[in-house]
Amino acid sequence: MTALLDAQDIRGGYDETPILNGVGLTIDRGEIVTIAGTNGSGKSTLAKALVGLLPRCSGTVRFDGRTLDAVAPEDRPALGLSYVPQVANVFPELTIEENLWVVEGVGNRRARADELFGRFPSLAERRRQLARSLSGGERQQLAIARALMLHPKLMVMDEPSAALSPRLVEEVFALIRDLAAQEIAVLLVEQRAREALAFSHRGYIMSSGRIVAQDSAAALLADQELARLFLGQGRSNAAAS
Ligand SMILES: Nc1ncnc2c1ncn2[C@@H]1O[C@H](COP(=O)(O)OP(=O)(O)O)[C@@H](O)[C@H]1O
Ligand SMILES: [Mg+2]
Repeated sequence: MTALLDAQDIRGGYDETPILNGVGLTIDRGEIVTIAGTNGSGKSTLAKALVGLLPRCSGTVRFDGRTLDAVAPEDRPALGLSYVPQVANVFPELTIEENLWVVEGVGNRRARADELFGRFPSLAERRRQLARSLSGGERQQLAIARALMLHPKLMVMDEPSAALSPRLVEEVFALIRDLAAQEIAVLLVEQRAREALAFSHRGYIMSSGRIVAQDSAAALLADQELARLFLGQGRSNAAAS
C-alpha cells in the first residue's frame, strides 16, 4: 500500500540559512504520527514545508497519489491536507460560526458547519459569540473544527496542546484519537512527546533539521537513551507497577 503522504529529502528554511537538511517521512491513512525533538530542531518548519508554507523548500511531497510541488498552499486543503498552526489558527474577531463559514473549498459550508456543531456541543452553544471569547482549549477545538470543514485525509497539527491545562490537553488528545478512529491521519508536532507517543502509531525524532530516529511509538518510548535525550521528563510509568 502506498503511503498517504510521502515526503523525501525536504530541505529549506526561511532565508539562506538551511533549517531542514534533508528530511523524509511517510504517513499512512488513519495513522497518528508524532514528531518530537528539542526546541528549535525544525519541527514547525517541517510542518510548514509539508503544507507548502515554507518560503524556501526543495524535495518532493506526494500526497494521496499526486505530487504537491505544483499545488499552491491554498489549494492543498481541498485535496484533503489540512494544517492547524500553533498560533493564529482562528479569527478572533469573527464569531465561532463565521470561523467555520469562511473556510473556502467546501460545497455547503453552513450544512457542514452544522454537522461539526453536532460534534462540538460546547462550540455550538456559543456559536454566535466572538472567537476571542473562547478559552485556549475551546480555541483549539475551533481550530480543529475549521480544519475538519473540508473532510481532511490528513491533519498536520503543530503543538495543539501548547498552553493548555492538563485537563484540556487530555481533551485535545482525545479528539485526536477520535480523528484517527475515523480514518483521518494526524501528523502531530508535540512538546509533550511521551504523552503524544502513548497514543501514536509511529514517531520521528528531529534534531538540527534532520530525523535522528524513527520507529513505532512503543519502540521509541522504550528506548531509554532516546527518551532521556529527546522526550524530556514528562510522565513516566517506570515507577508504577
Ligand atoms: N519565521 C522564521 N524566520 C526565520 N527563522 C525561523 C523562523 N521560524 C523558525 N525559525 C528558525 O528555524 C529553526 C527551527 O525552528 P522551528 O521549526 O520553529 O523549531 P521547533 O518547532 O522544532 O521548535 C530555529 O532556529 C528557528 O529560530
Ligand atoms: Mg515549533
